[in-house]
Amino acid sequence: MLTCMSRSPDETCRLGEALGRMAGPGDVFCLSGDLGTGKTVFARGVAAGLGVAGRVASPTFTLINEHQGRVPFYHMDVYRLGGPGEMHDLGCEEYFYGGGVTLVEWADLVDEVLPGERLDISITRAGDQCRQIVFTPRGERYRRLVEEMKKFVRAGN
Ligand SMILES: Nc1ncnc2c1ncn2[C@@H]1O[C@H](COP(=O)(O)OP(=O)(O)OP(=O)(O)O)[C@@H](O)[C@H]1O
Ligand SMILES: [Mg+2]
Repeated sequence: MLTCMSRSPDETCRLGEALGRMAGPGDVFCLSGDLGTGKTVFARGVAAGLGVAGRVASPTFTLINEHQGRVPFYHMDVYRLGGPGEMHDLGCEEYFYGGGVTLVEWADLVDEVLPGERLDISITRAGDQCRQIVFTPRGERYRRLVEEMKKFVRAGN
């Protein structure tokens, strides 16, 4: 597990970007946190780290946006879904077990259909511009990713 503090949207974006640079095909990142905590800011960083060019809009209403980077980037926001059943109907397995990187905002709402192996990332407001970000790996692949993230954070971003 890795707990870190972000003091600005920029810092959150840089953390995402570091993770995006380390990410590979099949990776699943599950973000949880209240409205407006910075999930989309983090996702934009991941996209940048994956080499996605152009604007990364919030998938609030589209549910899923697909981008092309070094590998495909599937950016989901499941807040407006009716729960895990609808997530299943959306064909989420094809994203999770495909060759791209999948990031899910509000992942805790569809916990039942998330893959067992994944990286959980929870963001909590800790002041106006401060956010506590906790990375919890589920499975060996993600433990290694979190070790890499620790090195990045220790090096002072
Ligand atoms: N340290 C920080 N990290 C990220 N965002 C921050 C931070 N401090 C302030 N903010 C602000 O918080 C807001 C986060 O918005 P964002 O859309 O990323 O949230 P979200 O978690 O995706 O919300 P939603 O649940 O609606 O999808 C932005 O306006 C951003 O500028
Ligand atoms: Mg969002």
